[in-house]
Amino acid sequence: MKILVVGSGGREHAIVHALARSPQRPELLCAPGNPGIRGLARQVADTMDVAPIVEVAKAEGVDLVVVGPEAPLVAGLVDALAEAGIAAFGPSAAAARLEGSKTFAKEIMLAAGVPTAGHAVVGTVDEGLAAVTGYPTVVKFDGLAAGKGVVIATTEAEARAALVDMLETKVFGDGEVFVEDFLDGEEVSLLALCDGERAVALAPARDFKRALDGDEGANTGGMGAFSPVPGVEPEVLTELSAIVHQPIVDELARRGTPFHGVLYAGLMLTSAGPRVLEYNTRFGDPETQVVLPRLQSDLAELMERSSRPGGLAGATLEVDPRAAVTVVLASRGYPASASRGDEISGVDAADALPDTTVFHAGTAGGGQDGEALTTAGGRVLAVTALGETLFAAREAAYTGADAIAFDGRQLRGDIAAAATQQAG
Ligand code: AMP
Ligand code: GLY
Repeated sequence: MKILVVGSGGREHAIVHALARSPQRPELLCAPGNPGIRGLARQVADTMDVAPIVEVAKAEGVDLVVVGPEAPLVAGLVDALAEAGIAAFGPSAAAARLEGSKTFAKEIMLAAGVPTAGHAVVGTVDEGLAAVTGYPTVVKFDGLAAGKGVVIATTEAEARAALVDMLETKVFGDGEVFVEDFLDGEEVSLLALCDGERAVALAPARDFKRALDGDEGANTGGMGAFSPVPGVEPEVLTELSAIVHQPIVDELARRGTPFHGVLYAGLMLTSAGPRVLEYNTRFGDPETQVVLPRLQSDLAELMERSSRPGGLAGATLEVDPRAAVTVVLASRGYPASASRGDEISGVDAADALPDTTVFHAGTAGGGQDGEALTTAGGRVLAVTALGETLFAAREAAYTGADAIAFDGRQLRGDIAAAATQQAG
């Protein structure tokens, strides 16, 4: 089996790493990949653009294309591959709108009966303030906003300021704005493999979106993650998946746009029950770096089955009972900026530690010609460790992270800290 993985981040390194463990010994290709990925997969393109990816997949006789990031999904890569008769792991552009449009996601949730926060689309500041049901409240912009499109307003003055920014000053440009009820509780990322007809839940994870300890600082792509999540035991996982995944898969099938690939539900577990905050239509980053190292089933087989209508019939997943923790090492300035070109040391030493894997995200160099490995992005590396307990996995992940040095290195010190007190 020949598999092409599209993407260049820590998520895609974790995918390639899991595919490399497949007993089918697939031949792995990447586009564009990164230095870590290219240690396991042959680079066949330096782009994620639709036309060149389809062309190279045809030329290479690829059996399955795995699409990591959102952008090529929304751009219709899976549709173009289907037209060329090439199987892909990932949703069509129509199904990927679930992530691309918050308004569409709300509409589907309503139609499918999925519990979510109450919301109102608003056109003016006064309308927005009238829609607030209590403080704190949430003001959201539906469109590209570099992680700044969600404002939690604790007072009317803050809500007004956010509404003025989005509706009058139009700081993010044109797009729908809505006011949403604030949900209080624990967040969990629930990912499921989908074959157009059914959803098979992967292990639950929690990520850490803020840059600094104690959930302070700016929103980032994610500074660390752990799995499993205390309180989301296997029976609970099955129940939650029946509430947040299956109805969406059913609704999209009913509309003639069946969902294939990973459906990622960002949930808030509130005292009134689970509520969906958002859907993503791809693996989470860095959730993948803890979910896939625990997956013992053959990922290549599961991805191939997900690409076919009903292909996952009878599928059950084997999951390592051990816990996993990943700690992201970011470069100076992240998330406002990213520094490049700082030399990285200690990656091989960290990777050689027991049950520890270093996933590359924003790195460059490190080739066979003895070129130094350097930083080349905001999130540089993610160090994942498995352990008998969450506590042990956390200790091991930080031991690995401490073995790695580069100028300006920043990391959170509290990944999985609170949960180890719940889970031991
Ligand atoms: P989103 O881009 O919709 O995922 O929102 C980003 C983050 O804002 C989420 O991960 C939550 O931590 C927070 N958030 C979004 N919506 C709400 C809400 N209705 N209540 C509380 N927190 C929220
Ligand atoms: N870790 C959050 C995401 O991948 O969107």
